[in-house]
Amino acid sequence: RQPVDSPLYPLLAAASDYYRQALKSHPARKAAVEYLKGRGLSGVIARDFGLGFAPPGWDNLLKHLGGDALQQKAMIDAGLLIENADNGKRYDRFRDRVMFPIRDSRGRVIAFGGRVLGDDKPKYLNSPETPVFHKGQELYGLFEARQSNRNLDEIMVVEGYMDVIALAQQGLRNAVATLGTATSEEHLKRLFRLVPSVLFCFDGDSAGRKAAWRALEATLPSLQDGRRARFLFLPEGEDPDSLVRAEGTDAFRARINQQAQPLADYFFQQLSEEADPRSLEGKAHLATLAAPLIEKIPGTNLRTLMRQRLAELTGLTGEALQTMAAPVTDAN
Ligand code: UTP
Ligand code: MN
Ligand code: MN
Ligand code: MN
Ligand code: MN
Repeated sequence: RQPVDSPLYPLLAAASDYYRQALKSHPARKAAVEYLKGRGLSGVIARDFGLGFAPPGWDNLLKHLGGDALQQKAMIDAGLLIENADNGKRYDRFRDRVMFPIRDSRGRVIAFGGRVLGDDKPKYLNSPETPVFHKGQELYGLFEARQSNRNLDEIMVVEGYMDVIALAQQGLRNAVATLGTATSEEHLKRLFRLVPSVLFCFDGDSAGRKAAWRALEATLPSLQDGRRARFLFLPEGEDPDSLVRAEGTDAFRARINQQAQPLADYFFQQLSEEADPRSLEGKAHLATLAAPLIEKIPGTNLRTLMRQRLAELTGLTGEALQTMAAPVTDAN
């Protein structure tokens, strides 16, 4: 997945050290420290996640890491510096931001996310794709979750850096975030190699609900019997960070236990909203939407049970549903 060795790793590690040190001792650190405190984060959590601070200014990291032209070229490749195309001037990508190092499964820093302290745009700035960072494959917080518990039985997938960290702060140390990209089949394959159960918990807004359906689609090819996925939908306007801080760990856990929907329930509920199974036209449409998706499930038992459920909802026979859907091609 990643190069075993790359000169970019030590550079990224040095940058991460610099940002962490700046959060401790840079003259301008106060605003960043206050910001993190204001979001309810302790020093322990900041340490566990290696949080840092990119001070204001155009060349803090550039000066700190210094180096010759070759070294600076590597810093550009690592996404740490930007080169102005017109005049060739190089400057720090991350300025005046709280820094979130993104680590790979071995704990090596491979990229950063940086959040503004106020309301400027863009709210988060992320490293670009680099030889060591492929956004669609990485999950923020996975290394940290595994550090806290080698025998996780469920991983929670959330949208944002702050969701992962706020949940960890509240003792829920099993959350990971996709990095501003949709949940991919690749993500799910990785997660199910580690745990038999995945819980999706996206923001309570229309983007979050769309992300949930995309996550369902990405999950289907990984659903062997014995694995499960569930979905927790949050009240409008809340995200895991805001909610766990508002209601506390116990209430949030209770919410998971009581409200998390098994994938199959969410599947039929959502599709029944799109195609109303009370009319024959609706039944026909529902069958068209659902049957091909069900056939993506490799787990024979779950696939059979979902076909049966679709047959009950539509009145079509299991055989009719099976023949109208594409055959299973990807049986992993
Ligand atoms: P959100 O806007 O929901 O982020 O975007 P959040 O974590 O809740 O933000 P705050 O800090 O509480 O206000 C979810 C995720 O989408 C990506 C980030 O990974 C973010 O955590 N994102 C969002 C970006 O990459 N860039 C952006 O400008 C915004
Ligand atoms: Mn690569
Ligand atoms: Mn959102
Ligand atoms: Mn959010
Ligand atoms: Mn948030």
